[in-house]
Order: sequence, then structure tokens, then C-alpha cells
Amino acid sequence: MEAKINALREQMEAALAAVHSQEELAAFWQSYLGKKGSIAGLMKELGAVAKEDRPAMGKVINQFKVYAEERYQQVREEMDKQELAARNQSEQVDITMPAVKRPVGSLHPITIVKDQMIDVFAGMGFEIYEGPEIEDDDHNFTRLNVAKNHPARDMQDTFYVAEDIVLRTHTSPGQIRVMDAEKPPIKVLVPGRVFRSDSDATHSPMFHQMEGLVVDKKITLCDLQGMLDQFVKKIFGDGVKTRLRPSYFPFTEPSVEVDVSCFECGGKGCGLCKGTGWIEVLGGGIVHHKVLENCGIDPNEYSGLAFGIGIERIAMLKYGINNIGLLYENDLRFLKQFKD
Ligand code: PHE
Repeated sequence: MEAKINALREQMEAALAAVHSQEELAAFWQSYLGKKGSIAGLMKELGAVAKEDRPAMGKVINQFKVYAEERYQQVREEMDKQELAARNQSEQVDITMPAVKRPVGSLHPITIVKDQMIDVFAGMGFEIYEGPEIEDDDHNFTRLNVAKNHPARDMQDTFYVAEDIVLRTHTSPGQIRVMDAEKPPIKVLVPGRVFRSDSDATHSPMFHQMEGLVVDKKITLCDLQGMLDQFVKKIFGDGVKTRLRPSYFPFTEPSVEVDVSCFECGGKGCGLCKGTGWIEVLGGGIVHHKVLENCGIDPNEYSGLAFGIGIERIAMLKYGINNIGLLYENDLRFLKQFKD
């Protein structure tokens, strides 16, 4: 028996020396230490040994088993160590290499200016309302006092989606929607995309407007000028002055264009203000009594002011952008200049 064990020990050492993978190690365990392995086989042969020799023989076999298990464990640990070392080696990183830089995005200039505008008006207590971009003729024109065949429709070259359905030509239909839904006092801002069949260096078929509407008792043109004066000072600087010029919109009466004193030359006259010292920035006026009536608001009790600001126009003036197309081409060389 002992000779057999010695032979098995040698055989086992040779087998262990040949183990180079986890699979081979598992196979080794099966064939020596498994249920049907050689050592279990020795235990079975114990039955054939003389009764008095059995305990001593059993002890020898057990010792061999413990020894085999230890050897198995040693080889396993050694193998784990080698595998870890190999992995560390293959996954080694050179920390002196320059890192891969992830470019950080930035807000689009339209978004920056829109957010600034909202901030200014939110500070005056305006709430935000957003209406649909596809509008019916009624909201976009008729209830704003622009009847069918009214020559004022020519002011806005319209995209028709279907009979009486248009891509909104301005954010003013938002006025109607808000007045339909709420009773005065009303103080809302309607930012959004608008569409006109118009395209040159300063016009685009899609652009953004910010509508303002205030309806309350005793609202006057002074309130309009005061609010817009605050607005332009916040956007273009404290030194900028405002002036109102008479204008015409069917939905306001009186109607005004708002000019700001040229922030480039301080009013002396330059290329930006075309020598006049003033730059036109937006339109507005006192809400026409017919528009209030169209929304069930009594014009004898309430009055309103409204204004519409072109967001692109403000952004182009503020940043000195001379071609509106640059705002839509998504050229990174352009966009990168607007990190806040
Ligand atoms: N809706 C007008 C436009 O797009 C601007 C405007 C808004 C004028 C509100 C007066 C009052 O040209």
C-alpha cells in the first residue's frame, strides 16, 4: 500500500507540474481528490487490508489526502497570483500620457439671450406661456383684428399648412390664448418659434420672438415704455436710452416701434445705427379694444399693453453678428464663442 502511495505521490507531482490553466487544475482535482478520484480509490482498497493494519493504513492515506489538498491549494494560489500579475501587466496604463479630452458643450446664443430676456421680465413678475407653432387663422390673424383680406396681412408673408391653418407668423396669437384662459390681471411672456416666408441677411423663414402682454386696470403707454426701458438697460447696458416712434399694428392702438440709443457710438452715429444714433429693437403698443372684446374683456374696465421682441435681432445686436444664417448653421467655430 505504501509503495502505491509513493508512486501516486510522484505521479501527482508530475501531473501538478503539467497544470497550466484553471481547466487543467479542475481536472487534476477531479482525478485525485474527486469522489471517483485516486485517493477515494485508495480508501476503498482499505477493505482488503488486514484488520489490525487498517487504522494505521487509514491514517497514512488520510495524511496523503491532506497533503494532496495542500498541494492543490498551493498550485491554485500560485496560479491566481500569476493571473493577477498578467492582468495587471496587460491593463497597465501610462499615467504620463495626455488624457482624451471630452469637449464641453455650450448654450446656443439664441438660448443664452432668450434666458436673459426671461430673467429680466420674470424679475418684473411675468409668467411664461407657450402656444402652438401651428395655429389657426383665427388666433394668428382674425381675433387679433386682422380680418381676412385686410391689407395688414401683407406685413407677414405666411406659410399656409392647410386652408385657415398657418405656421404662426408671430407670438401674438399667444395673447388671445392667454386672454381666453385667464381673467385680468394678466402678465405673461410668450417665447417661441415663428415662421415667415422671408429670407435675407437679417431675416430667416424661422426665427424666435418673445411676446409680452399685460392686462390690468389703467395700463398705459408709460407702463410699456418703463418696462421696455428697464429691459434694454439690462440687456445692452445702463447708459442706453429708449424712444418710442409711432407705428402701426392692427392689434395695438396706439402702436409704437421702440428704438434704443446706439450702444456702439453712444448716439453720435456709426455704421451699426446707420448714422442715426438709434437702433430699432422691437414693436409694441396698447392692446386694441377690439382684441380685448374678442376675448371677452371689457375695454372700459381694463386696458393692456403688448410687445413683440425678435430674439435673433437682440442676439445679433448684442454680439455683433451680421448674418442671421450663422445662428442656424451649427458651425462649431461660431458656436464656441458663446461660452457664458
Ligand atoms: N406681432 C408683431 C410682429 O410680429 C409685434 C407686436 C407684438 C406688435 C405685440 C405689437 C404688439 O411684428
